[in-house]
Amino acid sequence: MKKIFVSRLLPDAGMELLRNSGFEVDLHAHSDPLKPEALRRRVKDVQGLICLLDDKIDKTLMDAASKLEVISNMAVGYNNIDTEYAASRGIAVCNTPGILTTATAELAWALLFAVARRIPESDAFMRSGKFSGWQPLLMLGGAVSGKTLGLIGSGRIGTAFALMSKGFRMRVLYNGKRNPLLERKLGAENTDLDTLLRESDFISLHVPLRESNYHLIGKREFSLMKTGAYLINTARGPVIDEAELVRVLKEKRIAGAALDVYEQEPQLTPGLRDLDNVVLTPHSGSATTETRRRLAEMAVQNCLEILRGEACGNRVV
Ligand code: GLV
Repeated sequence: MKKIFVSRLLPDAGMELLRNSGFEVDLHAHSDPLKPEALRRRVKDVQGLICLLDDKIDKTLMDAASKLEVISNMAVGYNNIDTEYAASRGIAVCNTPGILTTATAELAWALLFAVARRIPESDAFMRSGKFSGWQPLLMLGGAVSGKTLGLIGSGRIGTAFALMSKGFRMRVLYNGKRNPLLERKLGAENTDLDTLLRESDFISLHVPLRESNYHLIGKREFSLMKTGAYLINTARGPVIDEAELVRVLKEKRIAGAALDVYEQEPQLTPGLRDLDNVVLTPHSGSATTETRRRLAEMAVQNCLEILRGEACGNRVV
């Protein structure tokens, strides 16, 4: 009987599918990831691996799993997997695209407003008992409506995020492949990166992590941004040079940042947590009950399809 290893406890719907799959299932039933060595031991004799975005699935791991047929990532991003090596070994790699698009775009908006209108700071202020009444200069933030929104990455999530700006009557710039829908619905302008950085009031990142996107936003790029600009990242941490971000936020070179992802996840770059002009969430772009349930179902389904020799629409390799 084929065996599947699941690297974390999944939402019930996914576990239910696994229980009824007819395959043997081994589960790391905890919320913390396994250390690489422990993960290697658990995949030794499995055909299927269902893993998460913080499991590093590299050559060493795959070499420890001689029977492996499929790596099913419960995430749309798969930068944690050496897909080239998987392909060379004939191991299928699957992801979970589409179903987390809206949830992630919604979180990007939640972050945008949270940082612009200083929601976490305001909440902490109220809880501290310091509120002594309405004041003309209390908690002033940045306006959103009518401002310029700069989108870096024009794929599924970036597009959904930009379309949600409709009610705020924003000028929309985007950097990435041409997107006729954005142009038609919003009059969005496709610009080079430098123009976008210079002209945007809100810059939101929606690119996958590839070598070419590593530190896409660094010292030079920050120097081009407006002093009143806000940066939002719901994509992948290493797209931003986080040490440089801490520096520009400290110097108030830009107005603020809101991050859901981190360069050395789950660690934060020293200094980041001490700043008032940054909002931090724990990589929760897809974290709605409905979306996580559907993600688990899709990740399990992908794995089962490959192991059963059926066609799978979510293969990236
Ligand atoms: C989340 O970050 C994902 O890639 O699904």
